Amino acid sequence: MGKNWAGKLPALHKPRQFFPAPRMSSLPEILHEQLLTAGPQPFAQVMEQALYHPEHGYYGPGPRRIGRQGDFFTSVSVGPLFGRLLAMQAVQEWQALGEPGDFTIIEQGAHDGQLAEDVLSALGDRPPRYLIVEPNPRYREAQAQRLGARVQWVGSLTELQTGPQHGFFLCNELPDAFPVHLVRWDGGRWRELYVDAAFQFVEGDFSSPEVAVEVEKLPTDLQTGHTLEINLAMLVWIRELAQAAFRGAIFIADYGLDAEEFFADTRASGTIRRYRQHQMDGKVLEDLGDCDLTTHIDFTRLIEEACRQGLKQREYDLQGRLLGRLALPWLKSLEGQGLDAATMRQFQSLTHPAFLGRSFRCLVLDKSRE
Ligand SMILES: C[S@@+](CC[C@H](N)C(=O)[O-])C[C@H]1O[C@@H](n2cnc3c(N)ncnc32)[C@H](O)[C@@H]1O
Repeated sequence: MGKNWAGKLPALHKPRQFFPAPRMSSLPEILHEQLLTAGPQPFAQVMEQALYHPEHGYYGPGPRRIGRQGDFFTSVSVGPLFGRLLAMQAVQEWQALGEPGDFTIIEQGAHDGQLAEDVLSALGDRPPRYLIVEPNPRYREAQAQRLGARVQWVGSLTELQTGPQHGFFLCNELPDAFPVHLVRWDGGRWRELYVDAAFQFVEGDFSSPEVAVEVEKLPTDLQTGHTLEINLAMLVWIRELAQAAFRGAIFIADYGLDAEEFFADTRASGTIRRYRQHQMDGKVLEDLGDCDLTTHIDFTRLIEEACRQGLKQREYDLQGRLLGRLALPWLKSLEGQGLDAATMRQFQSLTHPAFLGRSFRCLVLDKSRE
C-alpha cells in the first residue's frame, strides 16, 4: 500500500544551514513550514501526515479510543458480536479448504486489537492462527499487550508472499483511512487539488501519471466544481493483497458507494469528512492531526481492480443483509432460547438500515491460486 509511517514523503522541508530549526509543536505548524518551503502539495500528502505523522498524526502515536468516548463508532466498537460473526465465517472458510493446518486469520487495520480479541474468544480452542498486518510499532505494542502469545505480526502485505498458504483475510474500515488525492471538475477538465501554506485548496495539474490514469475513468458531464477522491493507495493495497500466497477468502467491510453514486449532484463536494467527538463536517484542512479524516470507498473500482488481479467477487452487499445471512444458521440454532438483550442490541446496530446496516457494505472475495 502507498502508506508509510515514518517520513517516506519527499523531503519538503530543507534543513536550515545556520540556525537550528525552531521546535514545532503542532502538525499545522510543521505543515505550514513545509508548504511555505516547497509550495502547494497534493492533498494526499497533507492527509498522509494528518493521519500518520508518527508524533502528530491522528493515528501516528498510538491507538486512540473508538466508540462512545472516541470520535466515531465502528462495527467493532458496537460490541463483540461482529467478531463472533466473523469467527463463524472463518471457521466456514477453514472447513471449505479441508481444515488445513496452516490456516490463518489475517487482519489489517487491527487498531487496539479489539476485533482480534473478539474473534479469538469466539473461536475458543479452535485452531486458526491469527496474524496482524501492522506497520506501526506502537500499535503492535498495544495489540501485543492485549492479545499475548496467540497472535503473530508482519509489517506489510508483501511479507505474505511466501505464506501462509491458507487463510481468511479481514479488515473493517481500513481503506477509508487511506490518504486520497482530490480532483475537481472545472467545467471543461478535471484538475487536482493541492494545499497551499494558507491551508487553502488550489488547483493544479495531476501530480502523477497514476492520478491521470484514474481521472480518465471519470465522467465529464458533472456540474462545475464537482469534487471526487482518487484512492490510489486502495488500488496498491488490493494488488498487494492479491499477491499474498494464501488461498481462501478476503472480507472487507467499509462505508462506501458504487461508482455511479459518487457522481450524484448531492455528492458534488465529495465524501471526504473529518470526525471529532462524533461530529462530522467538511472542514478537512482545519485542526489537522486532531481529527480523523476519512472517505467513502469506491467499491466499483475496488471490485474491478480485485478481479483484474485474479480475485473473484463472491458476495457484495449492504452490511445489514450480508451479516444477516451470515448469522442465520446461528440464529436458527438459538431458536426457542432467544438472544440476550445486549447481543440483540448489537445485532440491530450492525444490521439495521438506520444504524450501520445500510451505510456499510461488505465485500467477500475468493482468493484461489492456480
Ligand atoms: C478507522 S480505523 C478502524 C479500526 C478498526 N479496524 C475498527 O474497525 O475499529 C482505521 C485503522 O486502520 C489503520 N491503518 C491504516 N493504514 C494501515 C496499514 N497500512 N496497515 C495496517 N493498519 C493501517 C489505522 O492505524 C487505524 O487503526
